[in-house]
Amino acid sequence: MSHIFLYGPSGAGKSTIGKILANNLNLLFIDLDRVIETKTGMSIPQIMDQKGELAFRDLETVALKDALAVGHASSVTNAQDKVIALGGGALLRAENRTFVENNGKVILLMVGLDTLVERLNSHSNKRPLLAGDLREKLTSLLAKRKEHYNSFPLHLDANQTPEKLAWQIQALLGRFHLSAMGEYDVIVCQVSNLTNFPMQSPIIVTDKNIAKFHLKKVESILQASDYAARSVLVLAGEEHKNLETISRLWKCFLENGLDRKSTVIALGGGVIGDMTGFAASTYMRGIDWIAVPTTLLSMVDASLGGKTGFDLPEGKNLIGSFYPPKLVLADPSFLLTLPEREMRSGMAEVVKHGIISDPELFDLCSRGLDWVKANLEEVVKRAIAVKIKVIEEDPYEKGFRAALNLGHTVGHAVELVSKFELRHGEAIAIGMVAEAQYAERIGAAKKGLSQVIAQVLSTFGLPTSIPEEMSRKAMIRAMRVDKKKNAASIRFALPVEIGKVELVNVSNLGSVLEWIDDGP
Ligand SMILES: NC(=O)c1ccc[n+]([C@@H]2O[C@H](COP(=O)([O-])OP(=O)(O)OC[C@H]3O[C@@H](n4cnc5c(N)ncnc54)[C@H](O)[C@@H]3O)[C@@H](O)[C@H]2O)c1
Repeated sequence: MSHIFLYGPSGAGKSTIGKILANNLNLLFIDLDRVIETKTGMSIPQIMDQKGELAFRDLETVALKDALAVGHASSVTNAQDKVIALGGGALLRAENRTFVENNGKVILLMVGLDTLVERLNSHSNKRPLLAGDLREKLTSLLAKRKEHYNSFPLHLDANQTPEKLAWQIQALLGRFHLSAMGEYDVIVCQVSNLTNFPMQSPIIVTDKNIAKFHLKKVESILQASDYAARSVLVLAGEEHKNLETISRLWKCFLENGLDRKSTVIALGGGVIGDMTGFAASTYMRGIDWIAVPTTLLSMVDASLGGKTGFDLPEGKNLIGSFYPPKLVLADPSFLLTLPEREMRSGMAEVVKHGIISDPELFDLCSRGLDWVKANLEEVVKRAIAVKIKVIEEDPYEKGFRAALNLGHTVGHAVELVSKFELRHGEAIAIGMVAEAQYAERIGAAKKGLSQVIAQVLSTFGLPTSIPEEMSRKAMIRAMRVDKKKNAASIRFALPVEIGKVELVNVSNLGSVLEWIDDGP
């Protein structure tokens, strides 16, 4: 359980933001001051006046403990978690602070003095410790509490719209609730939290590479919650993302007695996730599944958005379904065992997400692989936030979701023509630079953008130019085949600047590659 406590001075916006945040996360919202007022039948100033600050703090301590015990029947997954707005001095008491820090995360919201004065001016009479000259009182109160407020590690500047701030809190905590296609939580946390979520007779699907490092741990987490440790191991790699493996999964589900209420846990990269999701979507007309991604690419991309499927000999991902999991739990510590090439390849998607809509993430990426490895949690959370924003807006790829294809039109062609010698991320890195160069040539992007992108990608050892020897003709053929066979033009997601892409239809594919078709 991890409650979210919003803290900071009166006027920082805890109640407004708390309501939006709770709504976004499908959690219960509790405003502690309102609870105390309801319980005592007195306003906070009345309690302060008539009973004194000490008595008020006692009431606060009791209210805090009671608040955590209230249930929330309508929540889909993590039923007991809540968003709680605390009074401006609620954590001055050590007992309260220890209690909240043991039960969740405290987010400290801060705004400048002028804004606080402006916000509180209209109702300063309701704030007991601020009666009299508001600016003077506030200045002295903030000075008194400065050290206390500064001692909370998660600070946010609350000088922005409540909606933006709520989203920033979500990205900071790595907590999201998706509802555009099915309802599910996406959470960045330790895998030990897995059993906080409802599941029935679970079975793990994974491959040998992952099992070697992580299966025992996940099995023992299940066993600690009295589930049987059951698992199915499939062969690793894209070459096994096929109907044969799917059939094996269906058979294993049957042999293990899975019924319509059972839960399948996909422990692995995009290959395991795609196949497990597809097998779950079709077994007994659909059973629950949980994604526990173990590669960077699957954490920030493949496990989000509900696409499942497998390959045919004729092409990748030709069979599939939209079937979101019931939960995505991303534990960045899984990445510590990921082969270096997979890690670098995954970084291409992270950089892509920065280019699409998070310039700060792009800047963080420019610090290189060592910095990323030391700050995996932050990088994973930010990159996940970008993808979720896009897929919630356009779950079935009718419009803006195509922004996620940045680098992919050229990239898929490079991947295909290289006969998959290049990892997906390596091909996408090449694609992003080629598409940025094209955007510059047609005036959609400022000169130099492609170079900025190439520079960041190369810090991860990713390739940034189409191999000389690669047949441009074959690439154009591949671009046309890539799921858009009969289209006269292909829609590209072109980078316009870092943080912004534009969808552009292109009919002359040769111009993207600076290549003139001179016939057969
Ligand atoms: N569904 C979607 O929306 C979506 C989006 C993008 C990509 N994909 C799919 O994802 C697949 C690629 O996924 P991927 O890049 O995660 O590759 P992957 O699943 O093939 O995993 C890469 C390799 O790393 C190993 N591995 C995984 N986690 C490990 C760990 N923690 N420690 C050690 N080894 C580990 C795997 O066994 C495998 O050999 C493709 O099939 C692609 O089509 C799907």
